[in-house]
Amino acid sequence: MPGDFRFVHLTDTHIMAGGTWRPRSADFEFDTEASLRRVVATVRTLDPVPAFAVLGGDLASPDLLRRDVTPAVEDWETSYRLLAEILGGLPCPVHYLVGNHDHRVAFNRVLRRDAPTVDAPHYYAFDHGGHHFVALDSQEPGQAGGFVDPQQLQWLGRDLARHRDRPTIVFVHHHPWPLGLGWIDTMTVRNGDELMTLLEQHPQVRWVVCGHVHLDQAVQSGRLTMLTTPSTCIQMSKVSQTGKALPGPPGFRVVDVSGHALSTRVMHLRDGVGDL
Ligand SMILES: [Fe+2]
Ligand SMILES: [Fe+2]
Repeated sequence: MPGDFRFVHLTDTHIMAGGTWRPRSADFEFDTEASLRRVVATVRTLDPVPAFAVLGGDLASPDLLRRDVTPAVEDWETSYRLLAEILGGLPCPVHYLVGNHDHRVAFNRVLRRDAPTVDAPHYYAFDHGGHHFVALDSQEPGQAGGFVDPQQLQWLGRDLARHRDRPTIVFVHHHPWPLGLGWIDTMTVRNGDELMTLLEQHPQVRWVVCGHVHLDQAVQSGRLTMLTTPSTCIQMSKVSQTGKALPGPPGFRVVDVSGHALSTRVMHLRDGVGDL
């Protein structure tokens, strides 16, 4: 019988050391470092304490500081080191995913020293409290949208076949199913149907938890539920069909596991009135 525990999903931290994010077509700038520090401080107040945190990708984004200049790999490394320093304040271990803004080589050098090759994709699984967790790598280098390559899908099929008795949650940066918002649905996992068909063949898979879209939404089809989690920094409008950036509020997801039951809520950090 699976045990009782909590975990948190923090995503789209977009750390850009030495600067702030000025979204295209928006008239504000946003300090992603300060925002993540507030989120970490909030996670520290949770009772019960999370057993672990999953960081859902778009971890570091020096590419957003100046769109006319491609940053050097060292710029990403500086941001990953800052990210690690901030996350050192969490009361629990961290599991990382990469997103479209991440730099695999810099990520591996700073946060994944045991990577088999310097540019290796980062997909893996782990167990906790009788549950199985799968982290996928949906980055397609140079693309805003995502892709889960055939080698990774084969690995996923084998992994799920070996864990048929374990309730399973899958994490992936990009959303495999569309949300119904035109602009963001051009940036799904482009072989999302293939991925979800594979997951549907394994009834132990309960949820697919994504980042990337900077808003919270739930989509269910058949047995599967896909959840998206707000960013720890900038949010996107939940209704705009063309994409509208909003200066917060930062958010994250809390998941409570009790036996076979899963419960989740999204927390937002608002000034003055809050969920906390
Ligand atoms: Fe993002
Ligand atoms: Fe993304």
